[in-house]
Parts: sequence; C-alpha cells; structure tokens
Amino acid sequence: MSESLQNTDGVAVYRRLLRYVRPYLKAFFLAILGMILFATTEAAFARIIQPLFDDGFVKKDPTVLQWIPLVIVGIFAVRIVGSFLSDYCMAFVARSVIRDLRKQLFTQLLRLPVSFYDTSSSGVLLSKMVYDVEQLAEASSSVITVLIRDSLTIIALLMMLMYYSVWLTLILIAVTPVLAGLVVYVSKRFRKLSHRIQKSMGNVSTVSEEIIEANREIKIFGGQDYEIRQFDEINNHNRRQFLRLAVTNALSSPVIQFIVAIAFALMIFFAFRLELKVGEFGSYLTAMLLLMQHAKRLTTINATLQRGIAAAQSVFDFLDRDPEIDDGNKLLDRARGEIKYRQVNFAYTPQGEEILHDINLLIEPGQNVAFVGRSGAGKTTLVSLLPRFYDPDSGQIQLDGHDIRELRLESLRSHIALVSQHVTLFNDTIAHNIAYGALESATEEDVRRAAKAAHALEFIEKLPEGMQTIVGENGVLLSGGQRQRLAIARAILKDAPVLILDEATSALDTESERFIQSALEQLMQDRTTLVIAHRLSTIEQADVIVVMDHGRIVEMGSHAELLAKGGNYAALHRMQFTEV
Ligand SMILES: Nc1ncnc2c1ncn2[C@@H]1O[C@H](COP(=O)(O)OP(=O)(O)OP(=O)(O)O)[C@@H](O)[C@H]1O
Ligand SMILES: [Mg+2]
Repeated sequence: MSESLQNTDGVAVYRRLLRYVRPYLKAFFLAILGMILFATTEAAFARIIQPLFDDGFVKKDPTVLQWIPLVIVGIFAVRIVGSFLSDYCMAFVARSVIRDLRKQLFTQLLRLPVSFYDTSSSGVLLSKMVYDVEQLAEASSSVITVLIRDSLTIIALLMMLMYYSVWLTLILIAVTPVLAGLVVYVSKRFRKLSHRIQKSMGNVSTVSEEIIEANREIKIFGGQDYEIRQFDEINNHNRRQFLRLAVTNALSSPVIQFIVAIAFALMIFFAFRLELKVGEFGSYLTAMLLLMQHAKRLTTINATLQRGIAAAQSVFDFLDRDPEIDDGNKLLDRARGEIKYRQVNFAYTPQGEEILHDINLLIEPGQNVAFVGRSGAGKTTLVSLLPRFYDPDSGQIQLDGHDIRELRLESLRSHIALVSQHVTLFNDTIAHNIAYGALESATEEDVRRAAKAAHALEFIEKLPEGMQTIVGENGVLLSGGQRQRLAIARAILKDAPVLILDEATSALDTESERFIQSALEQLMQDRTTLVIAHRLSTIEQADVIVVMDHGRIVEMGSHAELLAKGGNYAALHRMQFTEV
C-alpha cells in the first residue's frame, strides 16, 4: 500500500464509494425513510413521558392513562416498520455494492499485465477480494445506518430537548467540539491500524495458501516446523494489530461517554435551578438517556468506518492500477505467421539487469524453429514477448510485417496458441479444459477430434465420466503426461497460425514420450512453431535451431550445420545427448 494513498482524504474515498450506491438510490432512500421513521419514534417516546407523568401520575387523569398505552404500542409498531426498512434496504444496497465491487476487482484481475502477477502474492490479492471487500460491506451498510439513523435520532431528541429548555441543550451542544476533536484523533489511529491489519490478513492468507499448494514438498523436506514458526509470527502479528485496535476502541468509547456524562451532570445541576416540572424533567431525562445510547453507537462505529475507508483505499488502489497496454487498433484476419524480431532488448524491471540483448530473428511462415540453450538463457522470455506478455524496452517485433504493438491485443493473441512449460488446467471438465475460453463454441465433435490428435482420447475414454470428468484444481487428478496432452489438444483445437511450445523438461516414460511426440508433430504441421526444445527428436526435426546463451542468440542453423560447425550447439549436444 502506497504511503500517499494512506494519507488521502477519507472523505474523497467515501464519496467514491457512494458513487457505487447510485444505482441503488431507490433502496437507499427507502432505508433513509425507515431511519427517519425510527428517529421520530424515539423522540416521540421521550415526549410521551411528560403527559404520562404530569397528567397521568400527578393529576391522575383517567383518559390520559387510557390513551398513553395505546400510543406507546403505536409508536413501537411504527418503529418496527422503520427499523425493518432501514436494516433490510441498507443490506440490499451494501450487498449489491459488494457484488459490483467484486466484479470490478475480478475484471481488473483479468486485465492486469503479466508483470503485475510476477510481483504480487496471490494470498494478498485473495485477501483483497474476500476480506477487504467484506470490510467495505460493513462500512457501507452498518456505518451508514448508524451514522444516519442515530444522527437523525439525536437531532430529533435534541429538538425535543430544545423545546423544553434552550439553555440546557446549549450546554450539551457546547461539549460537541471537544468530542469532535477526540473523534478525529481516534479516527486517524483507527485507520492506520486498519491498514496494518489488512496487510497482515494478506500475509496470513499468503502463507496458508503456500502450504496448501506445497503440501507435498513440506512433507518430504520436513518443513512443518519452519512453516509453523513462520505462521506463528504472522499470526501473532495479526493478533497484536487487532489488539491495538481493540485498545483504541475500548478506551475511546468510555472517554467520549465520560465527556457526555459531565455535560449530563451539568444539565441536571441546572435543571433544578430552572425549576422544571416533574413530567418535563422526566421527558428530558428519557431523551437524555436515549441520546447517550445513540451517541455511544455513533462513537463505536468510528472503528468500522475507518476500517471501511482503509479497505476502500486498498480496493480502489488496486482498481486504479494500469491494465495491459492495448492501444493498437489493427486487426489481422488470419496471419501467415511470419515473425520478425528486430534489435530487441528486454529487462523484466526498469532497474533490473537486461535479460535479452539485441535479438534479431526472422521466422518464415510455417517454419519450425527450435530454441535451445542453458537454463536461464532467456528462451522462455524471448517467446513471451510475442503474445505481449511483456513489451520489449527497445526494438520491434513484427507479425506478418505489422508491429505487434499496432495490433489489437485480442487480435494478436487470437493468432497464437501456447503450450507452456507448466501446464495449467482449470478445475472443470476435460471437455471444458480443451475447449477453453474463446474455443467454448467448439462442437463436441471438434473437441473429440482435437483430443484424438493429441493422443489424449485413449486415456480420456478410460475415465469414469469420459470428457465430463472433472480434473481437479490444476489437473491434480491427472498424470503429468496426461496434462500435457490436454494442453496440446487445447492448442490443436485453437488451430492458430503461430504456435509457442515450451517443452517441459521433465522426463517422461518412453510410452508417453512417443504419444506426446506424435501429438506434437500433429500440432506443428502447417504452422509457424517456436519450440523451446529439450528433446533431441524435436530439435533434430526443426527447420532452424536457435542457440541462446546469456540472453543472446549465439548460433543459428540446421542440426547438421550446427554440428559441423563445432560451436556452442555441438558442445551442448555432446553434453546433453551423448547417452541417447
Ligand atoms: N518474471 C520474471 N521476473 C524477473 N526475472 C525473470 C522472470 N522470469 C525469468 N527471469 C529471469 O530471466 C532470465 C531468463 O529466464 P528464462 O525463463 O527466459 O530462461 P529459460 O531459458 O527459459 O530457462 P529454462 O530452460 O530453465 O526454462 C533468468 O535469469 C531469470 O532469472
Ligand atoms: Mg523456460
């Protein structure tokens, strides 16, 4: 969380939040109507004490004693309506705002560039989606309810007090600036603590998420103690932050009440001087007691309000992040698949070291290019620039002679299929995993054909529910080779003119190796293919082999040419494939 944002004005944040309420103004006003009803009943109740005492108990007037119970029942009946309207309508508004905000957050997650995900922990993001937005719900419902309902009630009660004695009421009003000052001070502290709590909630979910994902590594490498220690610290930190908030909360309310009580004492003192009648004093006292109650609620919601503002800041900060740059407007019908890198340089971060240096490369349509090189040489990075997961710092990349930055992102990416180093599957059916995203409209027959071509149909048909089998989160219910074949089927179905293939380094048994090999051959036919290859068979078949080292292209040519040259490739080949 940026420091500047923490200091932005809470009012501005709240105003922005209220903009989300605009579509639900009708419910909002109904809620306020309910609050007005509620406030009126409170004042009316205090008001009724005076005739009850003066005319009922002192003068013993029988008619008064008859109608007053009826009026009391009436007052509380109206109060039910008011209370229900305000609670339900506010909840309606709040839940609607939450839904809208969550949707915006979700959409924003889909629009953010890859580089954002490189540097953010998913736990922190999840905590934003879940915890921060929920805090907002409280801020926008309970706070508004209390703020408006109790303020209105206080105003109604004050008016009634004024009616009895202007002087007494002025005393009460005189303490207001003192109270206000205190509230402002406490607010600042609340907000600071709330920011810390949010961060700490994010840490709690990050660590928890990590151990869920890494549960096998933890078991094998005996990481339990380490994880527990790490978690204890974070968990305790979280507790400390909450307790600090509790201290502020627990101290501020009684102090504020103490100040109100002083005003109260003063008033009782003056009430005798002013010689109020019993009934008047009774009404006055009732109103005062009610007023204390509402004032108390007003002070306790401050914590919620500040928490809500802190959460809103965190949410808005996220919503204001720049999405992927997509200002090209050219559309390509179907690319031929000519790819050109011209003097491309790239670093992941502005201050970080340059990962790609002066990359020049021309790939003809339909060519099959293999990238080889040591781990960390920059192969994955180089191909990631083509679908614009990242943009080069200088130089240009062209597809069919168009600078890829001039193409609309969606259009550019529609020409590229990708099978990445780490296969990602969705927790959905096999059919949906193959026909994912824009491919959703594919027919069942198309999906089957793609699965067959990828040699995936063999194992799919053996599964209990075939194509409709759910694969589990990230495909945990499948083997590595099976997952890969699904990813290949997905790419086959997309049938894009350009294919990027980041071969997994993991060794497969010869049987799946053979399957995958022929699946890949299917896939690479008739399209421009960029393969990051680890398997000799893939490399040997490539039209061109690009050898990379330390972010540079050091050699290029066919297998035979490069071997004959006796340079980097020959050395690499000797090292990696002698035993094959
Ligand atoms: N998201 C990232 N942010 C910052 N640096 C990165 C990122 N991804 C990779 N790097 C760095 O860029 C360099 C090249 O990485 P890259 O993944 O392109 O290598 P590679 O040739 O694909 O290696 P491998 O064969 O192991 O997959 C490495 O030094 C790596 O540390
Ligand atoms: Mg790689």
